[in-house]
Amino acid sequence: MCGIVGIVGQQPVSERLVDALKRLEYRGYDSAGVATIEGGALDRRRAEGKLVNLEARLKEEPLAGSIGIAHTRWATHGAPTERNAHPHFTDGVAVVHNGIIENFSELKDELSEAGAEFQTETDTEVVAQLLARFRRDGLGRREAMHAMLKRVRGAYALAVLFQDDPSTIMAARNGPPLAIGHGEGEMFLGSDAIALAPFTNEITYLIDGDWAVIGRTNVHIFDMDGNVVTRPRQVSSAAAYMVDKGNHRHFMEKEIYEQPEVISHALSHYINFIDHRVLPVSDNIDFAKVPSLAISACGTAYLAGLIGKYWFERYARLPVEIDVASEFRYREIPLSPQSAALFISQSGETADTLASLRYCKEHGLKIGAVVNTRESTIARESDAVFPILAGPEIGVASTKAFTCQLAVLAALAVAAGRARGTVSEQEEQALVRSLAEMPRLMGQVLNSIQPKIEFLSRELSKCRDVLYLGRGTSFPLAMEGALKLKEISYIHAEGYAAGELKHGPIALIDENMPVIVIAPHDRFFDKTVSNMQEVAARGGRIILITDGKGAAASKLDTMHTIVLPNVDEIIAPMIFSLPVQLLAYHTAVFMGTDVDQPRNLAKSVTVE
Ligand code: F6R
Repeated sequence: MCGIVGIVGQQPVSERLVDALKRLEYRGYDSAGVATIEGGALDRRRAEGKLVNLEARLKEEPLAGSIGIAHTRWATHGAPTERNAHPHFTDGVAVVHNGIIENFSELKDELSEAGAEFQTETDTEVVAQLLARFRRDGLGRREAMHAMLKRVRGAYALAVLFQDDPSTIMAARNGPPLAIGHGEGEMFLGSDAIALAPFTNEITYLIDGDWAVIGRTNVHIFDMDGNVVTRPRQVSSAAAYMVDKGNHRHFMEKEIYEQPEVISHALSHYINFIDHRVLPVSDNIDFAKVPSLAISACGTAYLAGLIGKYWFERYARLPVEIDVASEFRYREIPLSPQSAALFISQSGETADTLASLRYCKEHGLKIGAVVNTRESTIARESDAVFPILAGPEIGVASTKAFTCQLAVLAALAVAAGRARGTVSEQEEQALVRSLAEMPRLMGQVLNSIQPKIEFLSRELSKCRDVLYLGRGTSFPLAMEGALKLKEISYIHAEGYAAGELKHGPIALIDENMPVIVIAPHDRFFDKTVSNMQEVAARGGRIILITDGKGAAASKLDTMHTIVLPNVDEIIAPMIFSLPVQLLAYHTAVFMGTDVDQPRNLAKSVTVE
């Protein structure tokens, strides 16, 4: 949520700052801005909306200066207007911020009473106003920074420029990530290492409570008490290339089509394709001994966890407690310190997931992270990291990260089953053989279903509401289908357990309501067919997503049937994800929405 960059350079910085912001635009695109110091004066350009607007503004009115900070915003406090766009200026101080200053209202009242005039509706402006006040009170720049940090509460990644020091950026972290990049005679600051990848791969991550004074060739890091601290300098694996769409219209489309390749990459980390065995997973979590598993995550990652729960319970006979992270940590769940907890997050920075992780850590549980970003905070605070190896996911709607999370959870569940003796060697080999088939089957599905999906998507794009149904692991997938459709096409959609239909949602069924039923020919198929009968009897328009056996067995008159290859039960959620994702994608394309950057959303949610 919100992206930050900074450069203490030798050459003009504004163009490079905007280039770095492009890598962070996934974090928010409500407005963007850049500030530099030139000739002893702060100057800035800001624009409402996407980064292209800021670029256009800079073209009209370039910004000189070899030191600068920049920001791309996901609005929390105050409308997404130019006035509220960062950087915020107050009396020779410029500030960009990611996070929420929780006590901003009380600080604003205090500062206003002392004569401060606020120009924006943002929480961030209190930071600039506090710094300006401390400077007026005679504090030096560092002292002012330290004093300001002692007054603000909440989550922040901050970058600050003082007009009277054109060679230093100050930064602070409490919550949202912040990386310092070491260049040749230049230093950089960014919300993540990907933003800094074209400049350097030598990174120092600040940890919570750190603040830093960054010069052209050095950085001094302090803790909240003002003591000097050292943080390791590491080589980041973030790729230096600008991730592009290739021949695809959108990143989302590209990422959907990348799935056979990335799934294969992810699986090779967890299974041996030759002898069809799971590879040892981690010394830090002993699945053989844990009495239960807690899983927590948000959004799509949570739905992946829900499917994982079915697998851990079925294959490893391991009871799983799962909830969305924003509820999990407040539920006062009785947790046993002998248990383990898994946190699933593409970004590895989601604030609620991180807070749940810390809650479990406090209760003594062993922590595992299923993440895409190995350098992320969630990964760094975990005892065991299970990378999903999906590569950068730029489309805001998660696709390949979801199926890679599923692939990793499936492999972990089989590994846990082996460790607990609930999966025999033959069963392990059969399950691993199925997993190994997945990339080929995914390729086959992606090559064959597009025309049908496009046809159906045209129909869906005319609808106001859509219902998704499924049983077993197809139930969380139904919820994922509904989430995907609503977030990128803005069509209202709900996912239900097929058996729940008659307990309420059936009241919605009429001839205008498409009902997408996800039903592989598995143990639940006949029961799901009965639920479809209930829909058909009320004139509902059924779109059935099934496999060859299911299509042959279902005698129902559906509006449309999408037929996938027959697949083993363990890989059905990943294979059936493909039509679900493509339906949402093509519907959104027909509706002309902004598929990669849907309204009001951001890729990395670092506020609670
Ligand atoms: C939906 C989507 C979100 C994320 C959620 C968690 O398509 O992408 O629901 O899954 O915000 O994000 P991570 O996985 O980064 O913790």
